[in-house]
Order: sequence, then structure tokens, then C-alpha cells
Amino acid sequence: MCKLGINIDHVATLRNARGQSHPDLLKAAFILKECKVDSITMHLREDRRHIKDDDIFLIKDKVDLPINLEIAPTEEMTKIALKLNPRSVCFVPEKREEVTTEGGLNISANAKKIEKLLDLISNSKIKVACFIEPDFDQINSLKSLGIRTLELHTGSYADSKDKKNMKKKLSLIQQAAKYSTEIGLDCHAGHGLNYDNVYDIASIKEIKELNIGHFIIGESIFSGLKNSILKMKRIIKASRK
Ligand code: PXP
Repeated sequence: MCKLGINIDHVATLRNARGQSHPDLLKAAFILKECKVDSITMHLREDRRHIKDDDIFLIKDKVDLPINLEIAPTEEMTKIALKLNPRSVCFVPEKREEVTTEGGLNISANAKKIEKLLDLISNSKIKVACFIEPDFDQINSLKSLGIRTLELHTGSYADSKDKKNMKKKLSLIQQAAKYSTEIGLDCHAGHGLNYDNVYDIASIKEIKELNIGHFIIGESIFSGLKNSILKMKRIIKASRK
């Protein structure tokens, strides 16, 4: 079965719009637990535009679910991760102006920086992943740094404007998932996934975990968080039959 991590960043986006405490992030996290998702994903951005430091520590303290913390590959963010001690950390590229994580991390261009962060984190039990494009060179660079997990950015597949392009992007993800697994890495995927496009990604048997956020939180307005998550879980389950 493909695992599912739910990203609750955009519950915080909505909360922050009024600068108060509703909708309550902790309440959302308890619903994730009730839905038996495999992990809670939160992206603590450097600009703190949605998730805040207090959120991650409160959720770690109160909710019995593994945390997958997405952070920029910097010393400051890595030190916060060490303090939190989540199940896993996923290094993602960050630009101040972007609306969301645009594209994957360029591993070879950031190799020295990432190596230092791996040193910093090496005494902990935190699993490290990097968010990358479905590209063999990126996968090889990641492996050569000794990182065992990658998350494939599915954004360009999800944002494809026509079926032909979408098929092409899907094929790149299939090949990257297969290759990374063959060389001994754990392959995850996420970004831009929804009820219509998740099936083909979830049916790639090498993908062990999906992380889904924005669509689920948006859909919750119409169907509620629990129903939205359960429907997503049903589609993922069906894709593995
Ligand atoms: N995985 C990673 C590494 C991400 O950065 C994001 C977006 O924060 C997601 C998954 C989830 O993407 P979406 O919100 O589009 O479902």
C-alpha cells in the first residue's frame, strides 16, 4: 500500500488570514489521526507565511502521528528540525516570491551545503529526503550524498495543460521511480495531486508515500476534512489493486 502524508500548511494559511486561532491546526491534525493517515506534513517556510514554529512543536507534543517536516536546506532550519526531532525532514528549495514550491531542489548545485546539513543531522534518527525533479542526474547526485529517500516533484505532471504532455511527464516520473528504487532508494512523490490525477501516480508501485496538501484542504470546504482525506485514500487504495 502506498502511504499517505497530509500536508496541513493551508489550514494555517486560512487561520493566518485573520491572525487568530481559527481554523485550529491541532483540530485538523486530530482529524488526520482519526483518518489513519501515515504522517502529518508541514512546511516551516523561512518567511513563516503559514506554519509557525509554535505549530510544529504543539503538534509534535499533542498528536501521535509521525511528522514529516519540509524545510529549506539551511543551518537555521536544520537546527529547528533537530530540536523538533520529527520522523523525517524533506529539504525543499525555497524562494521568497514563489506561491508554492516551484520545482525540485538542485542537488549537485547545492551538494556542499547539503553535506554540511547532513553532518549536522547525522547524530539524530531523523530520516532525510530531498524534493527533486524526476531526473536521473538529480537522483544520482542524491545517492552520492548518502541520502536514502527522495520525493519526486509531481507539479509539472499535475500542471500539464494537455493529455499528451501529461503522459510524457507521467512517464518521466515512472522512470525516475523505477530507477531510484533499483539503486536502493526510497521513492516518495507529491505536489499538485488531486482526485483526478492521483490514480496514475499512486499506481506506480515503486512510490512508497504520497504527500498531498492544497487540494485536500481546499476540498474540505465542500466536503469536510475527514471526507476529503477518506476519498483520497480510497482512490490511492484502488490504484494499487
Ligand atoms: N511535497 C512537498 C515536498 C511539498 O513542498 C508540497 C507543497 O508544500 C507538497 C508535497 C504538497 O503539495 P500540494 O499542496 O500541492 O498537494
